[in-house]
Amino acid sequence: MSTEIASDPPTTLTLDQKRSLYKDGYIVLRNAVSEKFVEAALDRIHTAKRGENIGGEPAMTDLINASSITPILTEAMGTFDPPVFCQVGVSKVREPGKHFNNLGYRDKDMPYYNAETHMDGSLTISIPQEVQEGTEEEIYKRYIASGPKGDLGRSPDVIGHNMGPLFDDPEMTLGLGSFTAFVFVCLNDQTVPGRGQTALLRGAHHATEKFFRWQYETNGKLGPEGPGWPRLNHKAPNRCGLIYLPEAVRDQFIDEASESTPDGKKWPRPTQILMDAGDACITMYHIPHSGTRNELGTESRKNMIFRIRNKKRQPDNVHNGITDHPDRGTAGAWLEYEEGNNPWERSKYAMCNMWDEWEGMREVVAEEQLKEVSSAT
Ligand SMILES: [Fe+2]
Repeated sequence: MSTEIASDPPTTLTLDQKRSLYKDGYIVLRNAVSEKFVEAALDRIHTAKRGENIGGEPAMTDLINASSITPILTEAMGTFDPPVFCQVGVSKVREPGKHFNNLGYRDKDMPYYNAETHMDGSLTISIPQEVQEGTEEEIYKRYIASGPKGDLGRSPDVIGHNMGPLFDDPEMTLGLGSFTAFVFVCLNDQTVPGRGQTALLRGAHHATEKFFRWQYETNGKLGPEGPGWPRLNHKAPNRCGLIYLPEAVRDQFIDEASESTPDGKKWPRPTQILMDAGDACITMYHIPHSGTRNELGTESRKNMIFRIRNKKRQPDNVHNGITDHPDRGTAGAWLEYEEGNNPWERSKYAMCNMWDEWEGMREVVAEEQLKEVSSAT
């Protein structure tokens, strides 16, 4: 006689899942979070007062700290600080809008439900809603002066409305903050496209790592305002759109089927991550991604977004689980580092060597890279 026992969710990735993570840059875990924790998080969202930030409530952080995601990520990646915050990614159902998005295009004109595909860790100051006038230099100066700290000129003390600094380091050679992994925990039915899903540029983590290496080899400057990556697109309809992804990466994902904005510019088609409540998606930091417009949903889209950094990058720093620029403190504050610890060089190294912080992926990475070498010869 056999007894059926309800199986707990797995606590490690299978070999095939690790191969997918290598190839695609993400992996979806079905039912990674039990119903009990999903319900508790939803209850907390439903009882939140207007404007209340509930990202630090245990009901939210338990989605990782008390679920199978912690052992899975620890095995695949390495140790990390348990998140004490998450980004509460709730987007209401809405029609396409006329406003300019962060890329300087009108929301309604942007393909793929207004996917603003980007790398994480860059500064975003609110985008001008009037078409900008003047020279490119004037537009740049005006833009960086319109952040929460006012006009500081071109300085690493400038921060965005998203709290991301213009540059992470004092020498202004690093335009992106970085970490190791994203975890998106889904709390509602997002199994049909157009419901505000997180969308990813599948496989593009390989291209971004390669691009960072090229930037580093060229002059040691990484991210926006490094080689091949101007910060602003003055050809955008508002003349002041952010370039969230370097053209050299974007172009690799454009094909016949790519949709265009009215100016004829083609945009790479991202993959909408279809998930249901309790599912989670783990991705590489390196993958370009975006939230999308919740145009076809019947309720608000709810993804709780965590940013995770392998503890080995800065063992003495505590990462809170939400910041995308952990080498700096709150509102761009400068942190203390001991003699010989150059946080910017460590982060540049991690950006150029994306598997270094995925300790449980080593064998799969070696196996896949060997296959790539043998198929190339
Ligand atoms: Fe992002």
